[in-house]
Amino acid sequence: MPNAGTSSDGSRIVRAMTPDDLDAACRILVDQELCDAEGLPQRLSATMEMANADYLVAEEDGVIVGVTLSVFDGFTSFASYVAVAPGAERRQIGGQMIGELIRRTQARDGKNIVVASWLSAAGFYRSMEFRMPGAVFLVRDV
Ligand SMILES: CC(C)(COP(=O)(O)OP(=O)(O)OC[C@H]1O[C@@H](n2cnc3c(N)ncnc32)[C@H](O)[C@@H]1OP(=O)(O)O)[C@@H](O)C(=O)NCCC(=O)NCCS
Repeated sequence: MPNAGTSSDGSRIVRAMTPDDLDAACRILVDQELCDAEGLPQRLSATMEMANADYLVAEEDGVIVGVTLSVFDGFTSFASYVAVAPGAERRQIGGQMIGELIRRTQARDGKNIVVASWLSAAGFYRSMEFRMPGAVFLVRDV
């Protein structure tokens, strides 16, 4: 059961998001300009308990310092929202969250993880052994 696992690194733990984490997780996503604030808690609470969702938070001493949203389609985990709290970058928080997502995707017998990333964060994913296969990312707004 992928949501059962957690990974810890010193006093930091990466675990499945719970309803109590919603406010802090939303704040990070908004502060890092990945999401609009309007309706965000409702969107997350409506989807976080889907069987194919891996919504993770990183917690340090009771404070939420990172969030990762990913969904699994039977082959691939798709992660499009990965962020750490402003000011907490480069402390391996993102790396620990991606490490936990890798573990959960393996536990689902998945084949790979695909991320949608700003170019500014591509170096982070490359450091986590992601490759750029030359695929084009197409978006249709609805
Ligand atoms: C991208 C992000 C999630 C990375 O998380 P992080 O906790 O800062 O990353 P880590 O500390 O785990 O970094 C691991 C390694 O990735 C690489 N890396 C991290 N950020 C990088 C960056 N901006 N540019 C290039 N390489 C980077 C480094 O090699 C780093 O190791 P080092 O610090 O020992 O040199 C975080 O910077 C963030 O929230 N950015 C704003 C939101 C965003 O752009 N999210 C991604 C798109 S969805």
